[in-house]
Amino acid sequence: MPGERVQIDAFAMQIGNVADAELEALHALSISVGWPHRGADWQFLREVGKGVVATDDIGRIMSSAMWFRQSPELATIGMVITSPRLQTQGSGLWLMEYALKDLEGVDLRLNATRAAQRLYHSLGFKPEKTVYQCQGIVTHSPAGETVWGDLRALTDSDLDAAIALDGAAFGAARAGTIGKLFQHSRGYGLFRDGRLVAFGLCRRFGRGHVVGPIVAATDEDAIAVLSPHIREHEGGFLRLDTHFETSDFAAIVMRCGLSVFDTVLTMSLGRTLMDFSSEEADAPVTYALVSQTLG
Ligand SMILES: CC(C)(COP(=O)(O)OP(=O)(O)OC[C@H]1O[C@@H](n2cnc3c(N)ncnc32)[C@H](O)[C@@H]1OP(=O)(O)O)[C@@H](O)C(=O)NCCC(=O)NCCS
Repeated sequence: MPGERVQIDAFAMQIGNVADAELEALHALSISVGWPHRGADWQFLREVGKGVVATDDIGRIMSSAMWFRQSPELATIGMVITSPRLQTQGSGLWLMEYALKDLEGVDLRLNATRAAQRLYHSLGFKPEKTVYQCQGIVTHSPAGETVWGDLRALTDSDLDAAIALDGAAFGAARAGTIGKLFQHSRGYGLFRDGRLVAFGLCRRFGRGHVVGPIVAATDEDAIAVLSPHIREHEGGFLRLDTHFETSDFAAIVMRCGLSVFDTVLTMSLGRTLMDFSSEEADAPVTYALVSQTLG
């Protein structure tokens, strides 16, 4: 619990609540491991989740871990960082154990960097699927293909339909996350017979903008809701995290100028991605993650 102390290497570390930490100190921690998050990105995450930090005896933040109850049965874990000066001394594991205690009985999902896979493996997480982190300056916009249906900007009145569609793809309705994203994003939805069948959101993040989630049942529909975002960011920095390496959707992402910058591994503890996915042939799928942290 916050206030708990542990001796790590020569440091006496104290655990604290991420909600009470200074934003600049959190920002400095993520910069220390080369992550692009701005203070505003940390703030967004603090508003949708909770977490802990480990501070040294003069109050410097050395390590962090956050978790997000996406629904009563499923949570994601992210922002697991240890300052390079203190890595491999046990503080990552200490904070993860703290998170797991708070998440007892909940199925867990996270996206692990190479550096973190051993840590998660030792806690029982199982590898599932690669995530391709695509990013770059948008150099080409896709041609405006005609698509069956009505493509338009999303408004607040579309929120419930978006939560339901995302929930069918993600495996759990995450009303809190999608509701918050609606406040921070521009969105496009594809409607057929007045029903939302695909949507894509885009928001400020890190070095530019990130597109996610994109939820659709086919590549064609996913491309339809991605394309306006690409057009709006031509010449700008755009990022998109996807499980798709080869497909028409992935090809469009590459063609517009993004390339695979890195890969991470989706891992689960408890029920797997498959357990949460629908067996129906035309079920919606997540084409782009909200982020590596939120899944
Ligand atoms: C991943 C990270 C959080 C681990 O934090 P840490 O405080 O060093 O972790 P711990 O000291 O508790 O180590 C836990 C286990 O991971 C192993 N480990 C730590 N860093 C490692 C690395 N760079 N490569 C391989 N294994 C590593 C440790 O040896 C230990 O395994 P063991 O118990 O079998 O010896 C830290 O390396 C980091 O911040 N990396 C950059 C950011 C990042 O990738 N975060 C993960 C996001 S998913």
